[in-house]
Amino acid sequence: MQTIVVDSKEQGAEKICELVRKELDAGHLHVLGLATGSTMEPVYEKMTESDLDFTNVTAFNLDEYIGIPATHKNSYAYYMNELLFSKKPFKETHIENGMAEDLDAECVRYETLLKENPLDIQFLGIGENGHIAFNEPGTSPESVTHVVELTESTIAVNSQYFTEDETMPVTALTMGISSIMQAKKLIVAAFGEKKRPALEKLFAGVVSTEWPVTYLLDHPDVIVITDLKL
Ligand code: GLP
Repeated sequence: MQTIVVDSKEQGAEKICELVRKELDAGHLHVLGLATGSTMEPVYEKMTESDLDFTNVTAFNLDEYIGIPATHKNSYAYYMNELLFSKKPFKETHIENGMAEDLDAECVRYETLLKENPLDIQFLGIGENGHIAFNEPGTSPESVTHVVELTESTIAVNSQYFTEDETMPVTALTMGISSIMQAKKLIVAAFGEKKRPALEKLFAGVVSTEWPVTYLLDHPDVIVITDLKL
């Protein structure tokens, strides 16, 4: 695991763009796994301002809420369209359909697509409780794309984005730990004090189901970008 310490999330975002550029220039980036959340906002801002060309790149997103449509401002589909896809063309973009009638079939469909399009790079943020994507504490390392019940702590953190008259979904679709670990390279971003407990667990070097981020210790190519000095 390589760690790059930066002074700010903006500098972290620049670093991530540099890493992406290197892989694109080397002809190694055909499939890019994307993440959502506030951590990724400066990254997509830098990407859209840059001359990076994704017209030959297929994108897959990590996760999506169940029960809110792509037109809902809190859906991850909406977030991706607003922040990136409307400004930077990609060859194809994929995200789980949280409105699917048959959610289990949707998970199988998505995991099959991932198998057919192996991820070259996967971006990851970290939840305050150590989740990656929506793989909450207790998730099996063998997990593939699945339906998840969000934990109280994730609901508490993410409910800040929903207004009082909106009901926050308590279930989601997420790539599993195994789906994520198939990616050739993982770029993990963690900015701000709230991420310190999760990063401390990662840097302690012990894999634990209770802190899903520690599963990344078993991946051969992980770059952590953080403004935390640990
Ligand atoms: C969310 C998302 C994750 C994200 C994480 C951190 O719940 N499902 O994919 O990485 O929590 O979010 P933020 O970057 O806003 O701290």
